[in-house]
Amino acid sequence: MDITAGQVVTGLEIGPVAHGGHFVTRHEGRVIFVRHALTGELVDVRITEVSKRFARADVIAVHRASPHRVTPPCPIAGRCGGCDFQHVEPGHSRELKRQVVAELLGHLAGYDFTGEVLEVQPAPLGWRRRMRYHLDDSGRAGLRGHRSEDLVPLPEGGCRIADPGISAPPADAGRPGGELLAVAGAPSLFVAPGPGSGTVTEQVGEQAFLVAVDGFWQAHAAAPTVLTDAVMAGLVPKPGDVAFDLFCGVGLFAGALAAAGAQVWGIEGDRRAAELARVNVPGATFAAGDVGRRLVGLPRAADLVVLDPPRAGAGSGVLAAIAARHPRGIAYVACDPAALGRDLKIASELGYEPVSVTAYDLFPLTQHIECVAILAPR
Ligand SMILES: C[S@@+](CC[C@H](N)C(=O)[O-])C[C@H]1O[C@@H](n2cnc3c(N)ncnc32)[C@H](O)[C@@H]1O
Repeated sequence: MDITAGQVVTGLEIGPVAHGGHFVTRHEGRVIFVRHALTGELVDVRITEVSKRFARADVIAVHRASPHRVTPPCPIAGRCGGCDFQHVEPGHSRELKRQVVAELLGHLAGYDFTGEVLEVQPAPLGWRRRMRYHLDDSGRAGLRGHRSEDLVPLPEGGCRIADPGISAPPADAGRPGGELLAVAGAPSLFVAPGPGSGTVTEQVGEQAFLVAVDGFWQAHAAAPTVLTDAVMAGLVPKPGDVAFDLFCGVGLFAGALAAAGAQVWGIEGDRRAAELARVNVPGATFAAGDVGRRLVGLPRAADLVVLDPPRAGAGSGVLAAIAARHPRGIAYVACDPAALGRDLKIASELGYEPVSVTAYDLFPLTQHIECVAILAPR
């Protein structure tokens, strides 16, 4: 008999962790990706989704628990879509992420990842500097469920991974049925999203960055510093170097490269972010638009390239245009190790190999991982 959504399947032995915060098991020959399980456990699950090749499920009972299972710090863990690993001891969640990075980079790029996933403070709670809350019809704030539009009301004490200043919106802060963006700071800010939501200033070392409240900024409090330090240590810019910052947002890496004396060109798809980048890094040149299309307008030779693409990765066109500039170093900042694996393979075909790949736990208690790969010509 075939399985269907909503069905309960009992007595499943849980296998290895997979990308996306799932654990793999099989039932009657079909692969099931299970949330909130751990390797070695014996569990009952409820099927949440069925496709031709596999099914998804969620744990509803644990008969034999892993020694790494803990009581989640948040009472809505498992229902809220934000945290996948609240039931995992934090040190072990980094080990799970290491296994995912090693498997993906090995399988997709033939790269032997031997590192750890590095802990970054604050962790594992109170690290998120930006939140998006949804308000129900009575104005009560909540967060969306996993792969769902369902609203899960915030627990007493608010979101555990958010900075304490934004762990819950103040009463009456927003319109019932609407949304509220929260930005941690002194003071913290709660505003409705949209073009009128304004800007905030983020300080990274000596440099200040204007950021649109509803625009992109790294979520973890320490991410801007950690990632900038990794990029700069990997690339070692020299005064006069020609450097590109691709997918540059409001110019985080462009700012560091320019401060080191490089001549910097940046490209960013969000027009408002590109405008703010011009204000934030006045010595650099920024183009607004698609990286794949705008790269042709940048200098024909580059010494250094930073790229920080969205989850889909950079792809062959962008990587070929970078390789054609013959940079001596490329820093690839990756929020999806699968995309990084695919792009490392393409980069290798273009003559660039990883000198190092470092993984950071910039999303504690969730399945997400940030990597920085430094590439050099073979
Ligand atoms: C992961 S963010 C990195 C931003 C910046 N490097 C930072 O750390 O603040 C990716 C950025 O790429 C931009 N983006 C996404 N797709 C793009 C594309 N095809 N061309 C140009 N920019 C794009 C997004 O608007 C976003 O600002």
